[in-house]
Amino acid sequence: MSDTKYAKGLEGVIAGESRICKVDGEQGRLYYFGYRIKDLAANATFEEVTYLLLYGELPTVSELKDFSIRMRKSRELKEPILQMIKSFPRDSHPMELLQSTINFLSGYIDHKIEHSPTCNCRQTLHQIAQIPPVVAAFHRFRNGLDYVPPRDDLSHGANFLWQLKGVEPDKDDAEIMDKCLILHAEHSFNASTFTARVVASTLSTCYCSISAAIGSLFGSLHGGANEKVMAMVNDIGDEDNAGPWVEKALAEKRKVMGMGHRVYKAEDPRAVIMEGFLGRLSEKSGESSDLKVLKEVEKVFREKMEKKGKPIYPNVDFFSGAVYSQLGIPSNLFTPIFAVARASGWLAHILEQRSDNRIFRPKALYTGDVELPWPVLEERK
Ligand code: COA
Repeated sequence: MSDTKYAKGLEGVIAGESRICKVDGEQGRLYYFGYRIKDLAANATFEEVTYLLLYGELPTVSELKDFSIRMRKSRELKEPILQMIKSFPRDSHPMELLQSTINFLSGYIDHKIEHSPTCNCRQTLHQIAQIPPVVAAFHRFRNGLDYVPPRDDLSHGANFLWQLKGVEPDKDDAEIMDKCLILHAEHSFNASTFTARVVASTLSTCYCSISAAIGSLFGSLHGGANEKVMAMVNDIGDEDNAGPWVEKALAEKRKVMGMGHRVYKAEDPRAVIMEGFLGRLSEKSGESSDLKVLKEVEKVFREKMEKKGKPIYPNVDFFSGAVYSQLGIPSNLFTPIFAVARASGWLAHILEQRSDNRIFRPKALYTGDVELPWPVLEERK
């Protein structure tokens, strides 16, 4: 009886095959199409990684050039979309705006054959290219600022900072932003990616799949941890307060945000790289209090957990919020930035799902009644 295979939250259940990403939680390694994340972060651009995710192999010089031109040409937002963003409720969360805008954008796209797996999203690259301008535009409009048009001489990460702030980022900031996007671009069957695949499995459009994935990412159990880490850092204030803060949190059985991971039981390789970025930015700005607080939280937390026989390491979210803060990005944009990066992974999974599709239709373990006698309306209590 297949009901015996039930696992809450599908934990441990293999829900499909994929060549895109391997998360080796025991060794603390992450691969995109076989390439280690540390090599990708050290050597590639986000555009190069997006090519890898969408085509399954690294581009040649000319392939990357053509691809980058195509991606950069797709950045401009049409006037009706800017109007839609302007008229969106100012106090709403940027993730709500983002999800709505994806479907709005969809109305301007020639899907070739509607509801067909042969759509042209790999060619247009709209969802990947237009998410950063949408996030940046909403941020500027609701702060009383004008739209900053995209630039095609900037990388994906650098252009995002440019459109957000209206100031060209220096080389260091531009590089770190682009590489942060690489670190978040893909992570196998996480909740939002799985959502995208489920929607794709019905042969819905890429846009519907991605807007559903954005809705899934919005939840605090998925995309919101780095925002909470920064709230913790602000609450702690000074590194001297970190130890007592962690002790109190653990005594009250509260989770220390940014620590631990369902899959990684060794170091999360993305966290190691992210910590390096935070070190670089802190040195450059001369402002290292966030880094000091985080390192003290990590030290005390790990000592406490190791004493209980539970080695727990920082995950990617532990340092990313502080990195984004150093880049001048407000905390309500941290989850949208996750979407900016993960759009490439989502699209890769949508295409892979379509290439060998079977609609997702799991069973439920029914725990309700059956064969109830029909009560006449007037006699019901
Ligand atoms: N703070 C306090 N305790 C933690 C913890 C944390 N951040 N992470 C794990 N633990 C505890 C668990 O509660 C569990 O305790 P128990 O044995 O008394 O039940 C134990 O350590 C082992 O947990 P583990 O099985 O390794 O983790 P998990 O799979 O249950 O949970 C997370 C994984 C990610 C949900 C969890 O680590 C967490 O909530 N982290 C904080 C939120 C966060 O950063 N999320 C972003 C993930 S990318």
